[in-house]
Amino acid sequence: MSDLKTLEKLAEKRRSVYALSDQLPVSNDEIVKLVEHAVLHTPSSFNSQSTRIAVLFGDDHNKLWQLTEDTLHDIVDNEEQFAATKQKMDGFKAGAGTILFFEDHSVVRDMQAAAPLYADKFPIWAHQTNAMHQYIIWTALASIDVGANLQHYNPIIDKKVAEEWNIDEHWEMNAQLVFGAIEQPAGDKEFKPLEERMKVFGK
Ligand SMILES: Cc1cc2nc3c(=O)[nH]c(=O)nc-3n(C[C@H](O)[C@H](O)[C@H](O)COP(=O)(O)O)c2cc1C
Repeated sequence: MSDLKTLEKLAEKRRSVYALSDQLPVSNDEIVKLVEHAVLHTPSSFNSQSTRIAVLFGDDHNKLWQLTEDTLHDIVDNEEQFAATKQKMDGFKAGAGTILFFEDHSVVRDMQAAAPLYADKFPIWAHQTNAMHQYIIWTALASIDVGANLQHYNPIIDKKVAEEWNIDEHWEMNAQLVFGAIEQPAGDKEFKPLEERMKVFGK
């Protein structure tokens, strides 16, 4: 298969998978290596390398979703509404781990000072490189048959996460990628017509 076909197959294989278990088909070390590779090779504006990542396995993963559940319980005081939230949290806990994505604001600030012309752009570019890390890691996990779904419980959990895992005060969380063994694959997905979404000129 050509490199392009392989890439396209993997792009299609990456889906939001919610039915996960902790019976990973690979070792935790393999997951860590895959994340390390993504951190090294994902591009960033001016090669600023502002993305930061924390990988939580096992008890630490469970702790994350328990503290998220506790935080949400304090916010949602309707028990009926909270039952659905708890079910969601239980679904995340059933997975094997979570990857937390941060941007280091001290790097962004340094970039703004070094290149003031682009000062207003650096925070945007930081989000963009962060998303690229999310995408390549999500896709790489799919390539080894590890399912994942992307969550955004920041900023309500930021303080507790920073305390629990001693996260640098300059790291701001952007997303949480829950991963695990695929218990049930993603369903069909609808696609808007390509003609609505892209134009080609001068072909
Ligand atoms: C920027 C972004 C934010 C997302 N946020 C969430 C989220 O907070 N919770 C969630 O369950 N899925 C989230 N998703 C997943 C999307 O709902 C999902 O990717 C989309 O419906 C397409 O399905 P697929 O991932 O199976 O291709 C997010 C995806 C992207 C790209």
